[in-house]
Amino acid sequence: MAGSLHTPVLLEECIRYLKPYSPGVYVDGTLGLGGHTEALLLASAPGGRVIGFDWDESALSRATERLALFGSRFHFQRRNFAELAAGLQDCGISEIDGLLLDVGLSSLQLDLHEGRGFSFQTTATERELADIFYYYGEERQARPIAAAIVAGRQLQPVTTTRALVDLVFAAVPKRFHPKKIHVATKTFQALRIAVNGELENLDRVIDEGVRFLKCGAVVCIISFHSLEDLIVKKRFREHPLLEVVTPRPIMASADEVAVNPRARSARLRVACRRSNRE
Ligand SMILES: C[S@@+](CC[C@H](N)C(=O)[O-])C[C@H]1O[C@@H](n2cnc3c(N)ncnc32)[C@H](O)[C@@H]1O
Repeated sequence: MAGSLHTPVLLEECIRYLKPYSPGVYVDGTLGLGGHTEALLLASAPGGRVIGFDWDESALSRATERLALFGSRFHFQRRNFAELAAGLQDCGISEIDGLLLDVGLSSLQLDLHEGRGFSFQTTATERELADIFYYYGEERQARPIAAAIVAGRQLQPVTTTRALVDLVFAAVPKRFHPKKIHVATKTFQALRIAVNGELENLDRVIDEGVRFLKCGAVVCIISFHSLEDLIVKKRFREHPLLEVVTPRPIMASADEVAVNPRARSARLRVACRRSNRE
């Protein structure tokens, strides 16, 4: 994960909405380093439980070490959170008291190590790449970047993060290099969203999660990307079993951003499960 590794974003706000109690059962779909889960376990002592999902092995091993002291109150699953229903069924859980997702950025290396990102940009056409960079990365230099990648890969396969970064760096005129982020950040973000099917995952987890939420229980989703936030906003509004709790997204306070710059672009949306009969 990029930024401040050990500082969970919008933590107080999530706890305020989730209102953890003992012996509630909570799902953290994006365990990461376990910061939010740790707070959920502390707030739901002595009997509350958390099921944590993460598809990243290294995040899981660090989180399980951190959360070992909670014993059987914490359980983890190495899975895509889009498979929430299957994961909960495996644990014999049919109802939950709250669902939390913090779909923050992972580091460039983390996502592209497995090679999926590279094989993807090897097969996509220039037009497809430009669309991905533009829509998923909101990258205004999408076309020159896509052209540079296609020209570059004709000379030599692009198989390392460094090679891809160098191509993007050279493709974007110096005057368009952003000041606050690396010039290649949006390109990598776009590839990550496309390769991982992240928008589809989000869509699916909302659907699956709602079926498990008890009446009155809430789902909290923190996103860092406007497309993700838009999906959350729409799905919360349109879902017949959800009532929107936060008509506008909750943003981090200036104090939180000062300590944790990663929180600057975080948006939290909360919805509450209605009863079937309403
Ligand atoms: C920003 S971190 C979460 C940080 C966490 N809330 C904390 O307090 O430490 C996001 C995590 O979600 C995981 N992740 C992202 N998409 C996922 C998915 N579809 N399924 C499972 N894990 C996912 C990433 O591997 C990463 O570890």
